[in-house]
Amino acid sequence: MEEILLKIKGISKHFGGVYAVNGISLDITSGKIWGLVGPNGSGKSTLFNTVLGIHQADEGNIYFKDRCITNLVPHQIFDLGLVYAFQVPRLFQTLNVLDNMLVAGREHKGDKLLFSLFFRKSWQKKEIELAEKAMEILRLLKLDHLALSPAGELSGGQSKLLELGKGLMASPTLLLLDEPAAGVNPNLGRSMFERIEDLCQTGLSFFIIEHRLELLFDFAHWVYVMDKGKIVLEGKPPEVAEDPSFYHVYLGDE
Ligand SMILES: Nc1ncnc2c1ncn2[C@@H]1O[C@H](COP(=O)(O)OP(=O)(O)O)[C@@H](O)[C@H]1O
Ligand SMILES: [Mg+2]
Repeated sequence: MEEILLKIKGISKHFGGVYAVNGISLDITSGKIWGLVGPNGSGKSTLFNTVLGIHQADEGNIYFKDRCITNLVPHQIFDLGLVYAFQVPRLFQTLNVLDNMLVAGREHKGDKLLFSLFFRKSWQKKEIELAEKAMEILRLLKLDHLALSPAGELSGGQSKLLELGKGLMASPTLLLLDEPAAGVNPNLGRSMFERIEDLCQTGLSFFIIEHRLELLFDFAHWVYVMDKGKIVLEGKPPEVAEDPSFYHVYLGDE
């Protein structure tokens, strides 16, 4: 069953006189990869930041699973399962991969010191469950063989996957990724998108800003094209790629 996860209705965000996002409406449903592309400065990151509650929208409303989240703050939105995977971009380089996952798992659960002192039994049980969950995610990302290696020894692509894994510790239903393949070599970029595709099989959805169009277009189910704060084109990747206005957006009037 296809469920509308995220509904953006008439969202605008301006900075002084600049309309970074100018009346955007779109829907994101479950179990799919959704792309967002457009030239530099077209407002992609601003749209994400507005959805995540980092910026307050000037106009419009945002709904996540039918709940209005327009005026919620970032941690409330995170707790509902709408997660920006690279929110905490730094890994603890000297901690091993598994411990990095466990730290992420504790971050958002209000890990109370008193609780750990007085309810040791249930606290230990929770720790074991957390470790099992972390290993399951590492297996999905094909990082499980590196669980005990220091995060500092990972390649660029593996570090990105680990950051994605940390986001998954929050049990999200929708992940927003801003340029996941940036700075990653072509093969690793592709395997990263393959892992993302695997995760979609479990019902997760991804909304991804990506400049590496050849990658995104191979994996996305639907692509939104932004220009000057508006959605100017949308469709299945081959349709978008063949649309003359797509090149116009990137190349201007030339
Ligand atoms: N915090 C901010 N303050 C002022 N202007 C901003 C801010 N963030 C973005 N902008 C402006 O909004 C426009 C869209 O930027 P951005 O959303 O980063 O585009 P993109 O991610 O598509 O490259 C740009 O003109 C940018 O300069
Ligand atoms: Mg950006």
